[in-house]
Amino acid sequence: MSTPRQILVTSALPYANGPIHLGHMLEYIQTDIWTRFQQSRGHSCTYVCADDAHGTAIMLRAEQEGITSEQLIDRVRQEHHEDFKGFHVHFDNYYSTHSEENRYFSELIYTRLREKGHIAVKEVEQMFDSEKGLFLADRFIKGTCPKCQAEDQYGDNCEKCGATYSPAELIDPRSAISGATPVMKSSEHYFFRLQDFAEFLQDWTQTGRLQEQIANKLKEWLGAGLQAWDISRDAPYFGFEIPDAPGKYFYVWLDAPIGYLASFKNLCAQRDDLDFDDYWKPDSAHEVYHFIGKDIVNFHALFWPAMLSGAGFRTPTSVYCHGFVTVNGAKMSKSRGTFIKARTYLDHLNPEYLRYYFAAKLTGRVDDLDLNLEDFVFRVNSDLVGKLVNIASRCAGFIKKGGGQLGEMKNPELYQQFAAAGENIAADYERREYGRAIRQIMDLADEANTWINDQAPWVLAKDETRQAEVQAICTTGINLFKVLMTYLAPVLPQMAEQVCQFLQVDQLTWETSQTPLQNHAIAPFKPLINRVENTQVEALLEASKADAEKEMALKQASVSSNPGAEPGPLQTDPIAAEIQFDDFIKVDLRIARIVRCEAVPKANKLLKLTLDLGGETRTVFSGIKSAYQPEDLEGKLTVMVANLAPRQMKFGLSEGMVLAAGDGDGIYLLEPHSGAQPGMRVV
Ligand code: 2FM
Ligand code: ZN
Repeated sequence: MSTPRQILVTSALPYANGPIHLGHMLEYIQTDIWTRFQQSRGHSCTYVCADDAHGTAIMLRAEQEGITSEQLIDRVRQEHHEDFKGFHVHFDNYYSTHSEENRYFSELIYTRLREKGHIAVKEVEQMFDSEKGLFLADRFIKGTCPKCQAEDQYGDNCEKCGATYSPAELIDPRSAISGATPVMKSSEHYFFRLQDFAEFLQDWTQTGRLQEQIANKLKEWLGAGLQAWDISRDAPYFGFEIPDAPGKYFYVWLDAPIGYLASFKNLCAQRDDLDFDDYWKPDSAHEVYHFIGKDIVNFHALFWPAMLSGAGFRTPTSVYCHGFVTVNGAKMSKSRGTFIKARTYLDHLNPEYLRYYFAAKLTGRVDDLDLNLEDFVFRVNSDLVGKLVNIASRCAGFIKKGGGQLGEMKNPELYQQFAAAGENIAADYERREYGRAIRQIMDLADEANTWINDQAPWVLAKDETRQAEVQAICTTGINLFKVLMTYLAPVLPQMAEQVCQFLQVDQLTWETSQTPLQNHAIAPFKPLINRVENTQVEALLEASKADAEKEMALKQASVSSNPGAEPGPLQTDPIAAEIQFDDFIKVDLRIARIVRCEAVPKANKLLKLTLDLGGETRTVFSGIKSAYQPEDLEGKLTVMVANLAPRQMKFGLSEGMVLAAGDGDGIYLLEPHSGAQPGMRVV
């Protein structure tokens, strides 16, 4: 075996404001398999990660939940870590970007870059929400597309016609946070002069460090010229203040990758065998790999190496990029139940099924990976249960009957062939061609099963005189199984642990796979994995649908349980649980005339409606301000829920609700055909 390598591995840091789902899990599983593989080969391989805890989205989310940003990120980090543990993803350290180490390295890198003249300061004009006192990133601005006039498009591109533009070009722009019309405001921003690193990046990106597809993409970008990168955001912002720049904060993407250093530094403080500088000094011979998704290549293969090199650190050995997960050939969808959270999966299925399926389909390229659920069930049952475990379960009983002791192998040549295949399989793991590795392993499993079938120990076992032969056949079978399990251990760590107990060995490594276990006592065989049933997958999809429904209900409840809060934009997720007619009939829907309509001072989204119900008058606050001028609604008929319990809001008592349709963006109040009269029941 070669000299041990010193390797540091990372996966992208998930944002601390949402749950981990199966799309995320692909990367963590991919990285965990690679780490475990390197360790099995006898190398030192350290895997660190952290939550990406800064930014406006996290700040707003915490505000919405009525907690501090610190409380939110602590809770979510814990949840993320539990999810990863559930999938047997083992980090040497799982930290947070909101840490003192990260502040230290962010300031250090920034000041070193500034000293070398790589930081520029420029005035930037940007949309500003004066009600929230917040500069608005493009995704927090909505308006009408200047090209095709589609309404409710985001600030930088139109989902209808695909046009890209600046938020200033939007027609009728508004803040997606408060609904207020943004104003242009100027402020000083800090820029990292990426163009100073053009030559360095030309070389760095084109000299074998990156996958071909990625290197080609970067060549195009570099050809188009590099711009300075805006690394500052104005207060209020949840992050680190920039040294000597009060009220200016590092943009979340500046300190996110620095979180890799911070997490590792924090680990080094706990471990005597790891030295930070050994890994990060400019001429380090140790290896550093970042596993990432294809959407964040620019941050990792342009900004990050430039920052590191400008600040006197080594750059990554490689950045390994993967594609996205689709489910049954389509983007994950909440309404189909294919938007599957890690936790929900764990409630229904064995994590090793997914680890195996992802591994069986992973390549070293940037291709998307389809989780086809029918194929998933088939593969797991056919490969793991039908082929792999079958080898052990067929042989173990005879060993037990013979005294529980492995003897000598009947077919040492076959064992040698299996052991020799380890180098090719290792080469595939190394290149992240896990699918190819799995195919080789399963071909060997087929060979093992064929050989055992041909030997038919169950026939020989009936003959008292041939017991020694039965033991020799089954000793071979168990040893073949041991080699295969070693090759699969990076993918199936829990099963590998059970196999260690069964075989009474401490560990299964590439090295130990080269020597058979002979004249060695083993433990009674216990089932290693169950078949996966279609009903379990169906239950998972149902539960994922229910998750989406619950999420929607919570969003709505957070409005009604927080009387000070204003309703958000209409929720239009197509999911609605089936109800009985008796439930429906409980809702008293009535025609109402809007006799008065006025904007509510200080409320961004609310109109105050005075409704005539055919004699009775009601006041209703409705979150439809963004769609209507108050005077346009006066005199119109609409439909209201008349028996909704009155709700005390910050601005007054709301005595019902008017009905409107919406697609999450636009709002359209319902209006009956002519002839309907106030007070009429709607059925
Ligand atoms: O895209 C994301 O989810 C980011 N939170 C990834 C950050 S990776 C690293 F740079 F921190
Ligand atoms: Zn458009």
